[in-house]
Amino acid sequence: MVLDANAMKKLVAEEAVKRYVKDGMNVGLGTGSTAKFMIEKIGELVKQGYNLTCAATSVQSEELAKSLGIKVVDIDEIGHLDITIDGADEVDPDMQLIKGLGGALLREKIVAAATVREIIITDESKLVEKLGTKAPLPVEVLRFGHEHTKYALERQGCKAELRMRDGKPFITDSGNYIYDCKFESIEKPFFLESRIDVIPGVVENGLFLNTAVDVLVSRPDGTVESMAERKSGEDA
Ligand code: 5RP
Repeated sequence: MVLDANAMKKLVAEEAVKRYVKDGMNVGLGTGSTAKFMIEKIGELVKQGYNLTCAATSVQSEELAKSLGIKVVDIDEIGHLDITIDGADEVDPDMQLIKGLGGALLREKIVAAATVREIIITDESKLVEKLGTKAPLPVEVLRFGHEHTKYALERQGCKAELRMRDGKPFITDSGNYIYDCKFESIEKPFFLESRIDVIPGVVENGLFLNTAVDVLVSRPDGTVESMAERKSGEDA
């Protein structure tokens, strides 16, 4: 069996729901093409009678979830989320992440911060030895003075490109711009994050450090590996 990219996304999304979603939970819904399959699977559980209360990381995910009959509430109506299942753009061997190529990084980070167990679903194409080697780092910035923010971002050693859609700057759900910052590689992600976060105009960065408690990874042979289980086996 050799799975294509879409089949790998579906496989890992459904496996995450099977492993981690229990009746009665508050669940955070991620964003992106992998998360879409997870939302569809949660829709099936709701049809089977599961009582789930969900908060979404984007307007897109909220609309999909509501169309499937899933109860979606404002994040501020929930004390905490038991789990959130979300995708990623890069995952390093320590489960540190880059997210935000789908444009939802700000809400994704707020939802992750309100979550007890953040579960990441991905396929093996997103695995890297060092962050920044494949994907750019998305940084959400205020529109006001964004050229100055870009200059400050580039002083961190990247080439920053304003994200465009249909010939116009891409606007996030929160009304901001995104700069995609291409580094050769990110050698010190925690240090870089601290430098980016103090730049005036930066709203949020796409480094999700020490956020994931597990990353499920699907492979073309139809297997799904838990990075947390592998790491605990290595540590034993
Ligand atoms: C959106 C994200 C997505 O989770 C990430 O881009 C992965 O998306 P996909 O599953 O479509 O590859 O961070 O902001």
